[in-house]
Amino acid sequence: MSDNNANLTVGGESKDYAIMDGTVGPQVIDVRKLYANTGMFTYDPGFTSTASCESGLTYIDGDEGILLHRGYPIGQLAEQSSFMEVCYLLLNGELPSAKELAEFTTTITRHTMVHEQLTTFYRGFRRDAHPMAIMCGVVGALSAFYHDSTDINDPAQRTIASHRLIAKMPTIAAMAYKYSVGQPFVYPRNDLSYTANFLRMTFSVPAEEYEPDPVIVDAMDKIFILHADHEQNASTSTVRLAGSSGANPFACIAAGIACLWGPAHGGANEAALNMLREIGTVDRIPEYIARAKNKDDPFRLMGFGHRVYKNYDPRATVMQKTAKDVLEKLGVNDPVFDVAKELEKIALNDPYFVEKKLYPNVDFYSGVILSAIGFPTEMFTVLFALARTVGWVAQWNEMISDPAQKIGRPRQLYTGPTQRDYVPVDKR
Ligand code: SDX
Repeated sequence: MSDNNANLTVGGESKDYAIMDGTVGPQVIDVRKLYANTGMFTYDPGFTSTASCESGLTYIDGDEGILLHRGYPIGQLAEQSSFMEVCYLLLNGELPSAKELAEFTTTITRHTMVHEQLTTFYRGFRRDAHPMAIMCGVVGALSAFYHDSTDINDPAQRTIASHRLIAKMPTIAAMAYKYSVGQPFVYPRNDLSYTANFLRMTFSVPAEEYEPDPVIVDAMDKIFILHADHEQNASTSTVRLAGSSGANPFACIAAGIACLWGPAHGGANEAALNMLREIGTVDRIPEYIARAKNKDDPFRLMGFGHRVYKNYDPRATVMQKTAKDVLEKLGVNDPVFDVAKELEKIALNDPYFVEKKLYPNVDFYSGVILSAIGFPTEMFTVLFALARTVGWVAQWNEMISDPAQKIGRPRQLYTGPTQRDYVPVDKR
């Protein structure tokens, strides 16, 4: 708690509101008693100035382009860690010892299979269904199969549910892809790493052996790390809000997947690559820059801008380098990457983007890599959801363990009609 307060005078009456300190970053004004004291609500559509909770998982400094997971910079984690290790870190708060990591990895590996009856859910979808629609449905259905881990008040069940969700997302995601291309589902294998297992379930076929390319495994693992968690973004806030009612974890994660799908959020990676392909060549970039700046045109540069980052998204820095490495190692010459780099250069020298502090975000370059690896654009947000599941479950666990947590129930500024009497239809 800070040693000073914020003072607010309403209707001639002054009240102090405690200012609370975090370990780093902006202080907060505790307004929990504002309504009782003043009969007024705060008003903050989009929560641009609102802290919804206390959290120790991820810290973002948008002005400096800093992203820390449990204190560790994202650049160091992406270069030196593994997605499994980052999962352990987010869930447990500390980097694991070699023994702890091995045990955690084995636990996750042992949960990668899904109930065989779950496969029938896929057959209810059209083959051309968007894989995110399948993810919403199938992940939500998990609560029908795993009743033994839906009691949110039992820490042991919360842990099992968390491990099941992290472990089964790659299997469910790979099945969504296989279903869309009419190929048979591929079972997980316990002798492969988390990411190699996912790539094999996605790209292998029964007709021949499949050896995951280490270059692709490394790039995919890095992409998973970059997407693992990101403070109180829209989908994480959705998971927290759903969880605050006591909903089971599978339903909460399905809600997060639905929110992530939006093009302003996780759907931006698919939209960004589609935009880059539509631009097609460097000479057409000015036309799209002009559209992005035109107030009368709803078009926005997808993969650009961020609610928090008013500097370069540190994940985009790693992503651009990874894109360069992967394309070189795979010998892929994708003109879209050149368009992306030139678009970034032009935009970052344009006063509109400079003044509004719009920089590339995590979604701007990810599609270039995923496309080079062989994923269709419709799978991009599925991969985001796969990686973000660890962040969602870690935030969900933190919320449930927080003594201050209660059901989320915002209020409103009412601007509708005041009370009036019903008029029978023959008198209207
Ligand atoms: C993710 O929150 C997270 O952490 C999310 C995420 C995570 O890891 O969970 O980081 C993942 O969702 C990244 C963002 C992906 N979305 C996109 O790339 C879509 C394009 N970007 C935007 O639509 C926008 O930038 C948002 C949604 C990301 C942020 O919107 P804000 O913070 O609400 O900002 P805004 O819409 O109020 O924009 C501020 C100004 C506006 O102009 P004015 O009304 O002030 O004149 O900037 C303009 C906007 O028109 N603007 C853009 C723009 N983004 C904002 N103009 C052109 N192109 C853009 N991309």
